[in-house]
Amino acid sequence: MKHKILVTSALPYANGLFHLGHMVEFIQTDIFVRYLRLKGKDVIYCCADDTHGTPIELKAKELNITPEKLIDNFYHEHLKDLKQFNINCDNYYSTNSPENKAFSEYIFNKAKEKGHIYQKEVEQFYCNTCNRFLPDRFIKGTCPKCKAEDQYGDVCESCSTSYKTTDVINPYCSICKSKDAPLELKKSLHYFFKLQDFRQKLNKYIVTSNFQQQVVNFLMNWLDNLEDWCISRDGPYFGFKIPGEEDKYFYVWLDAPIGYIASTANYCQNNKLDVYDYWKLETSEIIHFIGKDIIYFHFLFWPALLMCADFSLPKQIRVHGFLTINGEKMSKSRGTFVTARQYLEHLHPEFFRFYVASNLTSAVEDINLDLQDFKDKINNELIANIGNFCYRTISFVNNNFKGELSTIGTLYNEAQYKAEIEKKIAAIDKHYEKGDSREVMKELLAISTLGNKYVQDCQPWQLIKGDKQEKEKAQQVMTFAVIILKNISILLQPILPAAADKLQQQINLKNNSSSWNNLDFSVYTTQINKGEPLFKKLEDEPADLIPKKIQFEIRVAQIKEVQQHPNADRLYHLKIDLGNEHGEMRELVAGLKEHYTPDQLLNKQVLMLCNLEPADIRGIKSNGMILVTAKGKKIKLIEVPDHKLGELVYTTHKENSFTQLSYNDFKKIKIATRNKHIFYEDKPLKTDSGKINHDFEDNGIVQ
Ligand code: 2FM
Ligand code: ZN
Repeated sequence: MKHKILVTSALPYANGLFHLGHMVEFIQTDIFVRYLRLKGKDVIYCCADDTHGTPIELKAKELNITPEKLIDNFYHEHLKDLKQFNINCDNYYSTNSPENKAFSEYIFNKAKEKGHIYQKEVEQFYCNTCNRFLPDRFIKGTCPKCKAEDQYGDVCESCSTSYKTTDVINPYCSICKSKDAPLELKKSLHYFFKLQDFRQKLNKYIVTSNFQQQVVNFLMNWLDNLEDWCISRDGPYFGFKIPGEEDKYFYVWLDAPIGYIASTANYCQNNKLDVYDYWKLETSEIIHFIGKDIIYFHFLFWPALLMCADFSLPKQIRVHGFLTINGEKMSKSRGTFVTARQYLEHLHPEFFRFYVASNLTSAVEDINLDLQDFKDKINNELIANIGNFCYRTISFVNNNFKGELSTIGTLYNEAQYKAEIEKKIAAIDKHYEKGDSREVMKELLAISTLGNKYVQDCQPWQLIKGDKQEKEKAQQVMTFAVIILKNISILLQPILPAAADKLQQQINLKNNSSSWNNLDFSVYTTQINKGEPLFKKLEDEPADLIPKKIQFEIRVAQIKEVQQHPNADRLYHLKIDLGNEHGEMRELVAGLKEHYTPDQLLNKQVLMLCNLEPADIRGIKSNGMILVTAKGKKIKLIEVPDHKLGELVYTTHKENSFTQLSYNDFKKIKIATRNKHIFYEDKPLKTDSGKINHDFEDNGIVQ
C-alpha cells in the first residue's frame, strides 16, 4: 500500500486580499503536489484561512461588521484567487471551525495534563478608553532614546533602537489614540507553555530531519535560549475561549497550526478517510511549505505541541524567501504592493506561475519580480521557445498530413535525441522532488530547444516537396517532434497546468495517458487536433505590465486668501488651510477666475487634492489642486461645509501614506457624480463625518 502524504501551505490571515507573495507560496506548494500526483502518490493538499487574533477583531470593528462576517468575506475572495491561479487545494478551510476548536482544546489539555503549561501573572498596558489590554504592537509613544514621537511600543523607526514597552515615554493606545487618559499597567493571569521542556527532543528532531541547512543553523542558535511561550490573551479577542475561563482566549498562534490538522480532519470527514492516518501513522508524511518569517513557530512551537498530543511530526518543512518587486520589499505606500487580483487584471496567471517556477530553488532565497526580466522570460523562453515549438509542430502536421502521425524513423539521430531527453527527464524528476523548479525549467527549455533543433536540422519543409518516400520521411520527423511535445506536456503539467492541458488537447493526448509513467517515446495516437498558440506575447513596456495603484489624498480644505496671479490674467493665487494636523498653509494656483469671484471663494470649505506633485505655474509654486466637477462647459466647486477641516476623503478604507501623483496620474483616475454623490470605483466618497453630498448632474467628472 502507498503511504499517505499531506502537503500544506501556511494559513494566510483572513483580513486582506492575497498579494503576490502569498501566490508564490501557493504556486510552490501546488507545483510540488501536482508533481507527486503525476508520480502516482497518495497525496492531499490542505490549507485554510487563519482567522483569529487582534488585527482581525479590530478590522471588523473598523468596518462595523462582525469578525465572522469579515472572515467569511475574505474566505470567498481567497477562494476566487486560488481558482484563478489554478491552485489545486483539496481542502481550503478555516481555523474558525468546530474541528479546530476541538483539536485546540485537546492539544491544550494534553499539554496541561503532562505538566507543560503553567500560569503566571503578567503586567501589561491597559487602555481605559477601549477597556482592553494592549498587545505591544498597539502601543505607541515617544522613543526613550532619541525622543522621536509616535514610535511603536517595541522599536523606534527613527533611531532603530528596540526597547521594552514599559520604557516608552508617554505611551498611548494606537486603537483609540486617546492621549487624555494615560495607559495603566495592570496585572493579568496568563498561561505559559514550557518550551524548555522540549529542548532535547526538538534538538534531536532538528538534527535528524533533512531540513534546509540555512534553517538548521538558525534553529541551533535559538535552541540554546528557548523562552516559555505565552499562549493566552485577554478579551476582547476573536478566537477560542480557553476551557474553564471566562474571558481568556487561545493566542492565535496556538490554534493556527492546529488548523492544519482541522483542515485535514474536515477533508477526511468529507471523503470517508481517517484523519489519524495522516497525523498518527509512522508511515505517513506531513510536508509544510512556509515563509522564512515563521520558522520559529513551525520548527519549535509546533512540533512541541504535536509531541504533547503524540501526533506525527512534519517530515519536511520547506522554507522559502520573500517576494520582492523590482528589488524592493512590497510596500503599500510606494504603490509596489500588488494583490493577486490586481495582477490578474493585467496579466495571465500562468505567466506568474512560469516566472515563479523559473526562479524558485530549494534554498531560502528571496525571489525578485523584475518586470523587465519577467517580460523577457515570458517572451523569449515560454513563448519563443516552448510555445513556438508546440505551434509550429502541430500546425505543420495539420497543414501537411491532415493531422496524421506515422511512426518514428531512424533518420536523423533519433536514438541520440531520445537518450539525451531521457537523461533530462531523470534530472527533472530529481529537481521536482527537491523543489528546485528553476532547474526543472532549465531542463524543460533544453528539451524544447532540442526539439526545435531536431526539426530545424531535418528540414521537413524541404522533404515535403520531394517524392513519396521523402514525404514519408517528413511525416516521421514530425511524428518524433510530436512525441517530444508529449513529453514536454507531461513534464510541464505541475508548473503550467492550464497550458499543458491545452497542449494535450491539441496533440490528442488523453488524460489517462498523461502521467509520469507515460513519459516515453511511444506513438500514442494516429491523429492530432488543430493547433492554436498557447500564449500571446507581452507587448507593453515593463513598467506598464502591472500599473502602479494610484492613490489619491483628497482632504477637506478651506480657502483663506484669494489673490490675482501677478503673471496670468485667468489664474488666482490661493492660500489654503488644511487644519492643524496637516500643518502648513498650502499655496496654489487655480484656474477658477472665469467661474468664481474672490468673494465667492473666500472661506469656503472645499475638497483639495493634496498629493499632487508641486509645480511652478508662471512663477508661483503651486502645491495641490482644488477639485471641481465638470461636464461640458459647466464646472462647480465641491463644497463640503458639513465635514471637518483636514478630514481625509476615502471610499472603503483609509490609507495612511501617499506617494506623489503627477497630473497625468490623477487624470487616469475616474471620479464622477451620480445621484448627488461622488463615486470612485462604484463606491461613494466619504469622510469620517459622512458621505460627500454634491448637487451636480450625473456623470460630472471630478478634476
Ligand atoms: O504569518 C502568517 O500569515 C500566519 N497566518 C501563518 C500561519 S501558518 C500556520 F501556523 F497556521
Ligand atoms: Zn484605546
